[in-house]
Amino acid sequence: MKKVIIVNGSPRKNFNTAKLLKEAARGAEESGAEVEFFHLYDLNYKGCISCLACKRKGVAQKGLCFFKDGLTPLLEKCLNADAVIVGSPVYHSYPSGMFRCFMERFIFPAHTYMLDRVNGGLKRVINRTLPVGVIMTMNATKEQYKSNKYDIILRENEESLHAVFGYSETLYAFDTFQYTDYAKYDCDLFDPVHKALVRDKQFPIDMRKAYEMGKRLATMNN
Ligand SMILES: Cc1cc2nc3c(=O)[nH]c(=O)nc-3n(C[C@H](O)[C@H](O)[C@H](O)COP(=O)(O)O)c2cc1C
Repeated sequence: MKKVIIVNGSPRKNFNTAKLLKEAARGAEESGAEVEFFHLYDLNYKGCISCLACKRKGVAQKGLCFFKDGLTPLLEKCLNADAVIVGSPVYHSYPSGMFRCFMERFIFPAHTYMLDRVNGGLKRVINRTLPVGVIMTMNATKEQYKSNKYDIILRENEESLHAVFGYSETLYAFDTFQYTDYAKYDCDLFDPVHKALVRDKQFPIDMRKAYEMGKRLATMNN
C-alpha cells in the first residue's frame, strides 16, 4: 500500500492550510494510499544546526538529517513515503518559521554539493522520485502575490524540492478568509463581504485542487 505523509505548517489545525491539506489527504486515501497527518506546531524541534554531518564522506544515512530531536521520526517517515504533501500559510512574505525549519531539515540532507559529471547539475542522494506537493495559503490576492514578489520567493521552495526529490508541484490559495468573524477585529484593510465571497466561491475550487493533488501524488509512482 502507498504511504503519503501530510505535514501542516500552520499553527491552526482547522483553518485554511489544514483544510486544504485534509482534502489532499482525502484524495490520497480515496486512491488507496495510507495517510499519516502531522502538525508541525505539535513537535519540538529546531531548524538545521549546520553540523554538516550529512555532507561527511561515507555517511550511511544519506538523506536523513543527523541531528536528532522531535522532528526525526517525521523526517524518517517522509523519506520512506511514496509522496509527501506539505502546507504553510505565508507569514511576512515567507512560509511560517516552523515550516521553514522543517524544510531545512528535510531538503538539506538530501541536497549535495557534488557535481554530476555525467548528467550535469548536482548528484542526487535520493535515487528515486519522491513527489512533494506544496500548499501555500495567503491573504494576498494573485495580483499582490506577484507585485509583492511572493511568486519569486515561494518558487524557490518548489525548485529545491524538484532538484532534490525529483518532482514538486505547488497549489497557491489566495485571498484567504483569516478571521471567523471580521467584525471582532481591527482590520479595515479587508472587506469582509469580499473575503466571504472568496471563501464561498474560490476556496471550494482550491479544496478540489487539493483533493486532486492528493490523488495525483499518491498514484504518481504507480
Ligand atoms: C504572523 C502572520 C503573518 C502574515 N503575513 C502575511 C503576508 O506577509 N502575506 C499574506 O498574504 N498573508 C499573510 N498572513 C495571512 C495568512 O498567510 C493567511 O491568513 C493564511 O491563509 C493563514 O493560514 P491558516 O488559515 O492556515 O492559519 C499572515 C498571517 C499571520 C498570522
